[in-house]
Amino acid sequence: MNTIEQFNEHVMPTYGRIDLVMDSGSGQTAVDESGREYIDFGSGIGTNSLGYCDEDWVNAVCEQAHRIQHTSNYYYTKVQADFAQRLCEATGYDKMFFGNSGAEANECAIKLARKYSFDKYGKDAERNIIITLVNSFHGRTLATLSATGQDVFHNYFFPFVDGFVNVIANDIDDLMDKLNTLDNKVCAVMFEFVQGEGGVIPLEQSFVNTIVAECAKRDILTIADEVQTGVGRTGKLLASEHFNVKPDITTLAKGLAGGVPIGVCLANKKCSGVLGKGTHGSTFGGNPISCAGGNAVLNKVTNPEFLAEVTKKGEYFRAKLAEIPEVEGVDGLGLMLGVRLKTKKAADILQKCFENGLLILTAKEKLRFLPPLNISYEQIDNGMEILRKVLEA
Ligand SMILES: Cc1ncc(COP(=O)(O)O)c(C=O)c1O
Repeated sequence: MNTIEQFNEHVMPTYGRIDLVMDSGSGQTAVDESGREYIDFGSGIGTNSLGYCDEDWVNAVCEQAHRIQHTSNYYYTKVQADFAQRLCEATGYDKMFFGNSGAEANECAIKLARKYSFDKYGKDAERNIIITLVNSFHGRTLATLSATGQDVFHNYFFPFVDGFVNVIANDIDDLMDKLNTLDNKVCAVMFEFVQGEGGVIPLEQSFVNTIVAECAKRDILTIADEVQTGVGRTGKLLASEHFNVKPDITTLAKGLAGGVPIGVCLANKKCSGVLGKGTHGSTFGGNPISCAGGNAVLNKVTNPEFLAEVTKKGEYFRAKLAEIPEVEGVDGLGLMLGVRLKTKKAADILQKCFENGLLILTAKEKLRFLPPLNISYEQIDNGMEILRKVLEA
């Protein structure tokens, strides 16, 4: 029985996987069981932010594993305290909660927003609706699936969690209409600055400005889901910096710890005191090994020169893509890119790229690139050469 057969015999078939058994990795290169190499433009869906097995990251994680691996949240560790302080200071937030994934970070944000209104306006006010955007993606738990603004996810698992209302992204009239109709029942508006799974679609500045201004006026919390856009992915530490706004809550996960599980919910002073003792928790949340990985990531992504390089590499990607006749256009920010094709199907191109030694992603009908933030120009060139050949074949 080979690895794929062994795996499929014992693991629930919830994913459409590619027939690739990864064995090791270094930098931007993944290696399969037979020793074949692949250039990786996906980095584990934007999670291996420093590529495979970055030396500083490996040292930090291994050193922590040798020191102490888990303590439970009955106790404190220095590595958690350091990470939390550095992340709050770098992002300008007051306090954070530790979870293990994007969905958990968003669950925390949802609970926080509901309790904020509960505490302030009382149970009878029923101020608990969270507005989310059509085409959004917020996770796979029941609450975050319910928050997700895509009907395709709202099947089988009835009943879903009540209290989510969708607004069309970038449609100010729809937003105003829903805010006015639901007046005094809304506790938060939750959004991605660039919709990732929804097809790499950036929000417009005027729409973001309206969300922020209207929410401030109505004492509604703003929640930025930066699970995919955060931690340097767009060339800024947070994508909110591109829009010059500061949401009340920001959630991060994916690339935050360079490939070990983490998810955090950051809150500003207005709401950082809402979740008190016993209101929320997570056994693995704040795991010391994850925090050590997170510190190694922060060492790099808080450096302005590193972030400037992410922006430059994003532009380099765009220039290379513009030379390919089959490419209709490129959307996104920094190293979060969605490629519209003129005639070909993204899923077919993903498969052909894989067969030719390049790993890419798709989002809806687009090709999607989320390469390691420290990818080299040489590997961008090598990967783009494969992509060009596949698209021209
Ligand atoms: C914007 C956004 N939010 C939440 C999630 C869920 O994250 P996780 O799979 O870590 O729970 C994702 C995952 O793709 C995401 O892109």
